[in-house]
Amino acid sequence: MKYLLIVSLCILGALAKHELYDGHAVYEVEVNSIDQGKLVHDFENEMFLDVWSDAIPGRPGQVLVPKVQREEFENFLSKEGVQYKVQVENIKEQLELEDKLLAEAAVKSNSSSSRLGFDKIHTYAEVDAYLTQLARQYPNVVTVVEGGRSIEGRPIRYLRISTTNFQDARKPVIIMQSLIHCREWVTLPATLYAIQKLVVDVTESDLIQNIDWIILPVANPDGYVFTHSNDRYWRKNRRQNFSGNICPGVDLNRNFAMNWGTASSTNPCSDTFHGSAAFSEPETAVIRDIIQAHSNRLALYLDIHSFGSMILYGFGDGTLPSNALQINLVGVQMAQAIDRVKWPTNRNYIVGNIFHVLYAASGGASDYGQLFAPLSYTYELPAWRNNSWLQGFLVDPEFIEQAGFETWEGIKVGARAALANFRQRNSVERK
Ligand SMILES: *[C@@H]1O[C@H](CO)[C@@H](O)[C@H](O)[C@H]1NC(C)=O
Ligand SMILES: *[C@@H]1O[C@H](CO)[C@@H](O)[C@H](O)[C@H]1NC(C)=O
Ligand SMILES: *[C@@H]1O[C@H](CO)[C@@H](O)[C@H](O)[C@H]1NC(C)=O
Ligand SMILES: [Zn+2]
Repeated sequence: MKYLLIVSLCILGALAKHELYDGHAVYEVEVNSIDQGKLVHDFENEMFLDVWSDAIPGRPGQVLVPKVQREEFENFLSKEGVQYKVQVENIKEQLELEDKLLAEAAVKSNSSSSRLGFDKIHTYAEVDAYLTQLARQYPNVVTVVEGGRSIEGRPIRYLRISTTNFQDARKPVIIMQSLIHCREWVTLPATLYAIQKLVVDVTESDLIQNIDWIILPVANPDGYVFTHSNDRYWRKNRRQNFSGNICPGVDLNRNFAMNWGTASSTNPCSDTFHGSAAFSEPETAVIRDIIQAHSNRLALYLDIHSFGSMILYGFGDGTLPSNALQINLVGVQMAQAIDRVKWPTNRNYIVGNIFHVLYAASGGASDYGQLFAPLSYTYELPAWRNNSWLQGFLVDPEFIEQAGFETWEGIKVGARAALANFRQRNSVERK
């Protein structure tokens, strides 16, 4: 009875929260040529729409359109002869459904501060307490580090996981992070699952014996808290801009020093605003410092995003790293490992260069990682569940554990390839 009351109150609270999205519709847009795709892309940007995936010939795109802009958007599509359909009439209903499902799952959850289950999406505070608790519980393998503080002053904590306290130069280092785009909630179980399998429930000891790991589960704490409290679709950090405009936030995944500012937005109101300079944001500076501190042993860098079922690599301007053939091969092997265990209703992963698969993008984290690590990828976890009633960034609690489990299958393959690669390079250097 008490639980029922709590659930009902949570749901009521959530109802008010999503007013922001009342009447927002999700459109599926189909283009028949690259030029038409570009036309739609440019128009969507002009209207400051929230583009979830860009349309390319053969693969429809998805875009969220506020009620007051729907007519203008539809008129444009009709005039240009672009095919579209309305996938969701009112996204607010789905936001409420997600809240309801997650609240029900939370009541059943048996998570505690020393064990985070895969039955719900944990908050920043829960994850933060868990990292500290793990370091206390496993002092010989786990260290928790405060890499810095977010714009709003929250600790940005990550784990260093090593059986030799990062002292063995013969081991490669792997860096992994999630939630740099804070609305991509389904990415959190991927890093938490990796922590679980490296520390708590170790079934493949080679991965922890031979490799040093750095795992940053909440790369954008302020944004993540904001997605829980105010705006479920917030993507950027919470940088306030006091010089004459009202739009807060920098897209952290356009703020890294790799081709910074060449394929991103100069407008603070855009979802891809790149900030005032490369590494202007404390959240990206933390990641830069981690990467640089381990550059001599860094073998694999993974930035986990959603959605789209993709494994992408650099560079965002379409040029390729010199070892692109190997990067692509390992990418395909990771994707195949995931595809073998994925839910049959989800599509197979796509692997490729980010520019060629998606769009031009500059200042990305995995592009920067590629400057230091031979293997660097952006994962885009799946959106689609068994049912199509939860769209895009929203999480069906049924899928949380599966998301962690299947992504780990890919990460394991990447880790072992990175290890082999690292050993081979070292032996060549010694010759
Ligand atoms: C917690 O719940 C999960 C799924 O319901 C179950 O598999 C697991 O054994 C439970 N753990 C504990 C400690 O009760
Ligand atoms: C604030 O906005 C202006 C443009 O309106 C932009 O040039 C500047 O970089 C922004 N400042 C920060 C700190 O993001
Ligand atoms: C989704 O499909 C998988 C495998 O087909 C199944 O194990 C799982 O229970 C299904 N989940 C739901 C919510 O139907
Ligand atoms: Zn993302």
